[in-house]
Amino acid sequence: MSKKEFTALLIFISILSCRPQNSNKREVLVGGPCEGCEAIYEYGDMRLSSTDTLPEFKTTEPKLKITGTVYQNDGKTPASNVILYVHQTNRKGIYPTKGNEKGWARRHGYIRGWVKTGEDGKYTFYTFRPSSYPDRSEPEHIHLTVKEPDKNEYYVDSFVFDDDPLLTKSNRARLDNRAGSGIISPVFQNGILVAERDIILGLNIPDYE
Ligand SMILES: [Fe+2]
Repeated sequence: MSKKEFTALLIFISILSCRPQNSNKREVLVGGPCEGCEAIYEYGDMRLSSTDTLPEFKTTEPKLKITGTVYQNDGKTPASNVILYVHQTNRKGIYPTKGNEKGWARRHGYIRGWVKTGEDGKYTFYTFRPSSYPDRSEPEHIHLTVKEPDKNEYYVDSFVFDDDPLLTKSNRARLDNRAGSGIISPVFQNGILVAERDIILGLNIPDYE
């Protein structure tokens, strides 16, 4: 073997060893690709419980309580240890930042929260009704991401408001109903809007098994 051939052989071997193991296995993401879903891990040292109160709840109107039950894919069995992450705009329709944010908070802003369900699958967020973007290009919405044990995180339909004039017929027709419908109909109870939404894991989620 000439020196040239030996060098070529070495290069060939090093290329082979760089190939990932199981390269024939394609990793399928539950729910498809999702930009920013990793923000669900940005709760830091917060101890998650089934209830969370978002920043500026106390000082902002109209206050909103969103509550419901997370169910397994059968739609009946309460799902425990499921993390839900929400983020939303403020009353000006922007995702406000303080300037010192790291990670996805730079885009999602600080009006966000996390819960983790217990045995009964129940969850509650105390927040306020967001506003639509200043250009009114989208209905008012609260983004929602889910992380259940043994699955990658995935986004589900945002909370949107049945009485929002921007939630048009064509808008409604485009909804995917991921994890069930996100359309909520809050009612005033003791000075706070209360809305219910149950979440069915995996419902209308691509590649969910
Ligand atoms: Fe948004």
